Amino acid sequence: MADFTYAEWAQAEIARLRELYLVATEECIEARLDLGQHHELLSELEALLAGHPLRERLWAARILALYRSGRQADALRAYQQLRETLSEELGIAPSPPLVALEASVLRQQASLEWWPRTNSASHLPVARSTFVGRDEELTQLKRLVQETGLVTVVGAGGVGKTRLALEVAHALVGDYDDLRLAELAALSEPALVVPEISRACDVREEPNRAQLDTLVDALRTRHLLLVLDNCEHLLDSAAGVADSILRGAPQVSILATSRQPLRIAGERVWRAPSLPVPGTDDLSPETLSSFDSVRLFAAGHNHWVPRSRAIDFDREDLVSCERSLLTV
Ligand SMILES: Nc1ncnc2c1ncn2[C@@H]1O[C@H](COP(=O)(O)OP(=O)(O)OP(=O)(O)O)[C@@H](O)[C@H]1O
Ligand SMILES: [Mg+2]
Repeated sequence: MADFTYAEWAQAEIARLRELYLVATEECIEARLDLGQHHELLSELEALLAGHPLRERLWAARILALYRSGRQADALRAYQQLRETLSEELGIAPSPPLVALEASVLRQQASLEWWPRTNSASHLPVARSTFVGRDEELTQLKRLVQETGLVTVVGAGGVGKTRLALEVAHALVGDYDDLRLAELAALSEPALVVPEISRACDVREEPNRAQLDTLVDALRTRHLLLVLDNCEHLLDSAAGVADSILRGAPQVSILATSRQPLRIAGERVWRAPSLPVPGTDDLSPETLSSFDSVRLFAAGHNHWVPRSRAIDFDREDLVSCERSLLTV
């Protein structure tokens, strides 16, 4: 049909087939991202975007591929580039999913990580850093989740609630048909809680139906552990939705993290302790390295120390502590 490339009657069909081809390409790229091919996709995506600079799905794939390749700054730069292109060419802003993707990159959200599909039950992200200590807490919390429909891990900001909850969920993979993570931290409004949980559980919205009803209905027959992460700023909404799910879906368990409890029926509140910190008498390398907090610090996972937990060292202590830490 090459002779008809410019024939007027063929134009609509050519456009339709071209569009179908591009959509298939985008779907193929997303499938390959799921397979963990982010490195291989980078140059391919760059070439595709040069030819189709307004395709937002391709941009989303590129941002994700860059992020998963350990190039956060380039991922953010790609978003800026998309924003400039859209604004110059069409005078519009990126669509909400792209805006949300940028926010997730900025927050380094766990759901962006790629996880191998070898374990079909778990849709939880795999952490890149090693989990330090907390053996006793893991055992306690695991048992509590096995016994109760709703466990809320509470504790101060940054104490390690999210990380611990994810470790516990990973340890429970064999106990459920499916495990999902809904991250509420980035949500700005209570009304976004149901859409986020629906997204996390792959439940699509249905027309003319409250999304919560659709969600509860879809979960009714699922044997699932749902990790509801960072509920504190949307407590009422998160509590209401969790309550509806637990009432309507008997095989669903919820492991929530929050600075405050959800305060609903059946909730077991579990307070995450902070890792023990050394005192000024514990400054030898041997003693220091027996503290999980020091091991975590030395491993470079922790980027800050909450002020209230900072230790009052005098100058001499500090010098000796620094020397010991270097040894650790
Ligand atoms: N036991 C641990 N081993 C390794 N890394 C940890 C551990 N506990 C916490 N972290 C790391 O410390 C950081 C803060 O932990 P986390 O996000 O779990 O705290 P949080 O209590 O959920 O904070 P927030 O209240 O802000 O939600 C994360 O980068 C996390 O991976
Ligand atoms: Mg958290």
